[in-house]
Amino acid sequence: MLRDLIIKRRSYRRFHEDAAIELEILRELVDLARLSSSSANLQPLKYILPCDPVKNALIFPYLTWAAYLKEWSGPCEGERPSAYIIILGDTEITQSFDCDHGIAAQSILLGAAEKGLGGCIIGAVDREGLRRVLDIPSRYEILLVLALGEPEETVVIETVGPTGDIKYWRNNEGIHHVPKRPLDDIIVG
Ligand SMILES: Cc1cc2nc3c(=O)[nH]c(=O)nc-3n(C[C@H](O)[C@H](O)[C@H](O)COP(=O)(O)O)c2cc1C
Repeated sequence: MLRDLIIKRRSYRRFHEDAAIELEILRELVDLARLSSSSANLQPLKYILPCDPVKNALIFPYLTWAAYLKEWSGPCEGERPSAYIIILGDTEITQSFDCDHGIAAQSILLGAAEKGLGGCIIGAVDREGLRRVLDIPSRYEILLVLALGEPEETVVIETVGPTGDIKYWRNNEGIHHVPKRPLDDIIVG
């Protein structure tokens, strides 16, 4: 079952924007992150949970989408995320967040997948711009933005071919393909 959920938890970048996600759902997802592992158990992560159209519109311009899809500049109006979870690092707790935010992101996105939602980790963020527009205090480092919504696209996994190309791509029907390296290629000993 975990394998099924991990396969279902793909990166989605197009959504039914009008399918709202309630704040309580976001809180449930963050609670999964709260229960996850943390380096030295410091638990330095904090979260902002925007889920209304006005806030969402402020955030969107500061995100970069699907760098490999050169002809696509990101989701258009109507297919943008209906919520975000912004993962912050509280520098008053520690200056080094190790991989806490990666673990938190995966917990949240697995929880979202279980609820029939989809999302994408966005690391390519204009952090200064986002800080300014949301008035995020300097105490918090902006680590990752998770875009969330009800998926409006199909994403499939395939095996990396003989050329070794790992770039995701979209076919004529708009299906998003994600090449994964074969198991034997990643086990080195
Ligand atoms: C740390 C991290 C940062 C990422 N940043 C971005 C990003 O800025 N923009 C984006 O569109 N996707 C981003 N992604 C999503 C990856 O492109 C995606 O995980 C990859 O294409 C594999 O697809 P999959 O998640 O469906 O397996 C990021 C993923 C990770 C783990």
